[in-house]
Amino acid sequence: MFATSNGHKVQEAQMILAPFGIELGTYPHKGVEIQDEDVIRVVEYAAESLSSPNGIGVFIEDSGLYVNGLNGFPAAYSSYVLKSIGLQSILNLLAESDDRTAHFDSAVALKSEDEIKVFTGRLYGTISLTPKGKHGFGFDPIFIPEGETRTLGEISMEEKCKMSHRALALRRMAAWLGVKATHE
Ligand code: IMP
Repeated sequence: MFATSNGHKVQEAQMILAPFGIELGTYPHKGVEIQDEDVIRVVEYAAESLSSPNGIGVFIEDSGLYVNGLNGFPAAYSSYVLKSIGLQSILNLLAESDDRTAHFDSAVALKSEDEIKVFTGRLYGTISLTPKGKHGFGFDPIFIPEGETRTLGEISMEEKCKMSHRALALRRMAAWLGVKATHE
């Protein structure tokens, strides 16, 4: 069960987890979200207050964009910053900086029975000069992954799910679930 109300994240998670034979249900309660720039601390805390419907394992995911030329801003506050000041404001803030490197971090916390396990993933890249592309969500139109010339907004969800921070974290969770299943 994926505890989220973000439809984009659900679509990506379904695509990422399908090869592991994991069919994903969703659950629109994220637990209590604290204010912290580190996504790991955000999910660890939220998982504590997450109730697992029907005793099924449930996970949450928190992610953020960390821009080096802005001292790591907007970090775990990414969704609020996007809603309040938008993509263009990030580009404006960066206009004077010669460091456009950035990364996305994803942290997944899986709560099963009496245990909470955290998995992480990171995608390095740079911030583009202008927004490009219509795919994806959030900061995708201004983020160019390392080794790419296109923004995440210009590549398909399939391609994004091969390399993304969320894919790395979720694949680590799937691998752990696989190991756990064979040892029980
Ligand atoms: P939250 O994890 O629901 O707190 O939201 C994270 C926010 O970070 C999203 O609303 C986006 O603004 C941004 N974000 C996280 N992951 C991605 C991604 O894969 N692409 C683009 N933006 C992202």
